[in-house]
Amino acid sequence: MKIQEQIKRILESAEYISAHLPPAETAIVLGSGVGPLVQIIQDQQALEYSEIPNFPQTTIPGHSGKLIWGRVHGRPVYAFSGRFHYYEGHAPETVILPMRILKPLGVKCLILTNAAGGINTAFQPGDLMLINDHINLSGYNPLRGENIPDWGPRFPDMSYAYDQEYSELLLEIGKEQGLCLHQGVYCGLSGPSFETPAEIRMLRILGADAVGMSTVPEVLAAHQMGIRILAVSCISNMAAGILEQPLSHEEVNETSRKVEQKFCALIEEFLRRLSNEHD
Ligand code: HPA
Repeated sequence: MKIQEQIKRILESAEYISAHLPPAETAIVLGSGVGPLVQIIQDQQALEYSEIPNFPQTTIPGHSGKLIWGRVHGRPVYAFSGRFHYYEGHAPETVILPMRILKPLGVKCLILTNAAGGINTAFQPGDLMLINDHINLSGYNPLRGENIPDWGPRFPDMSYAYDQEYSELLLEIGKEQGLCLHQGVYCGLSGPSFETPAEIRMLRILGADAVGMSTVPEVLAAHQMGIRILAVSCISNMAAGILEQPLSHEEVNETSRKVEQKFCALIEEFLRRLSNEHD
């Protein structure tokens, strides 16, 4: 798609949202199975993705496809319930459309959540992992193509893509709450097939601790625009070949459901402390 058309679409989507929802400086993307995080949001107002100009429908069961505005401990947030994946057939610019609109909406802080397969054998299904870096093996980079200086640099530095202050705060809260909160490297692949056992052995050698099919393109776009990022994975299953059992999307959703309460409590406390300490 031509860059002028992309810009037009981004501004159309952002204008519709700001005309229909109040403002917020914090956004949360609710990943597969962590959708119930919406429970912690008060005074909700929502837009169906189908009514937002240029937003496609999500096609995954468990992703409802809504943009919710509300407050967590008084702090206004936008929560994206449902995201667009490359494996659904969306173009890279569509995958990152929800990120591109954050800048015109005035968002400064982004919390990304996802379900991921555990590669690090010290992990267990149901653990959480703070993402402190990533490896992009998705086969594409959504920043390819003409760059708009307004978005950010042509060659964004990725040394500190995951905000260090946010990460330290989350680890501190995880400790206080007695959670099994690891930190590690997330490897982003395109999917939709899960990996083979040989691929997982390779990814472990490469230094990945968890693997998934989202988040990396969002981080690339949001970080380019200077938005501060916190990203957390729910280890929904051990990656292929680690346990003697096949993987399934049901297992991913089931484990995510089991840890949903502690995941919610962690993010809720993060948002509370953000309001108190880090504004
Ligand atoms: N692999 C890739 N993506 C995933 C997995 C996995 O094992 N679990 C949840 N998302």
